[in-house]
Amino acid sequence: MKTEIIRIDPVRPEPEKLLYCGAVIRYGGIVAFPTETVYGLGANAFCAAAADKVFEAKGRPSDNPLIVHVCDYDMAEKAADFASERQMRQFYALGNEFWPGPMTMIVKKRSCIPDNITCGLGTAGIRMPSNRIAAGLIRAAGVPVAAPSANSSGRPSPTRFSHVLEDMSGKIDVIIDGGDCSVGVESTVIDLSRDVPMILRPGAVTKEYIARVAGGCDEYDWLREKVKVDRPLSPGMKYRHYAPKAAMTVYSGEPEKVREKIISNISSEKSSGKRVGVLATEEQICYYKDADLLVSLGPENEPAEHAKRLFDALRKFDEDGADVIFAHSLGFRGVDGAVMNRMFRAAGGRIEHIQ
Ligand code: TXA
Ligand code: MG
Repeated sequence: MKTEIIRIDPVRPEPEKLLYCGAVIRYGGIVAFPTETVYGLGANAFCAAAADKVFEAKGRPSDNPLIVHVCDYDMAEKAADFASERQMRQFYALGNEFWPGPMTMIVKKRSCIPDNITCGLGTAGIRMPSNRIAAGLIRAAGVPVAAPSANSSGRPSPTRFSHVLEDMSGKIDVIIDGGDCSVGVESTVIDLSRDVPMILRPGAVTKEYIARVAGGCDEYDWLREKVKVDRPLSPGMKYRHYAPKAAMTVYSGEPEKVREKIISNISSEKSSGKRVGVLATEEQICYYKDADLLVSLGPENEPAEHAKRLFDALRKFDEDGADVIFAHSLGFRGVDGAVMNRMFRAAGGRIEHIQ
């Protein structure tokens, strides 16, 4: 399949280009588009056949549901039914505060959303993105847009046009080149099926923010999760995600001890002929100059920068052909919690606490 590349201005998206791409989606085609979190792979959310093409292009397991993207509340109500008045009130209260933006809410779905999109769950994740191209594209399509992240399944999520081109060229109808994603990690996924909202996947909208609006908020304890989950709350949790090709380990603990450990690992891995990569903040990275590839996540005290850089960093290790990656853990301040969650998954759960 020949994939059309269309460059759209992220600040002032050209209306005629949005109309064209919207029509491709409405009539059953697949369009990759930027959102503020990561690029998405969009299909008409009323069309089961279009959704099938998304699963196929990604190589995604058919038991992992897609998020339904909307541009306003009228459209949201075409996809969302509410299981209770409590659910509807929480949906509007949280939406009012954090939409358009990097938050997905799981509510009861309407029957017009085909079962393959939600993998037969009876619920759907709904999100109203803020990125201007994304919002304009959904409006132009005139239908809710089902979209997972636009990476091949198992690879790091795409935060730049070049990442999408790498994974999706030749597999879908259109890729929009709309610049880099401003947040860089996927949306916070919140389940509204219980009395207290529950975060299934952390993102830029943190537990503290949600609790302030909803009066409380639980978070799925992913750090305690062993690599294999028997009954995950969200199907997406059971897959090793965002994985670079190299074996990655994250080290936490006293910075000096972590440094000592990583430095000694670098020399032992190198002596056995491995290519070693290190992922750390600007302040830490200078200690690891013996590694083959150093990638910085930006200044220690700028969590938003860590989020923006993480997936690009993981792809850089792949390009470089790293065999092993050692990562210095971050804290859990603001979006750093979400970045740590992605590092944890990229490492297949290997976080070691150095005493
Ligand atoms: O920021 C984002 O959310 C990006 C952009 C494109 O919007 N999308 C994204 O989609 O990250 P995806 O498919 O890569 O991740 C969606 C996650 C998966 O972990 C999936 O299991 C979960 O949301 N999910 C979707 N619908 C669900 C449902 N009804 N119940 C439980 N989990 C659901
Ligand atoms: Mg994904």
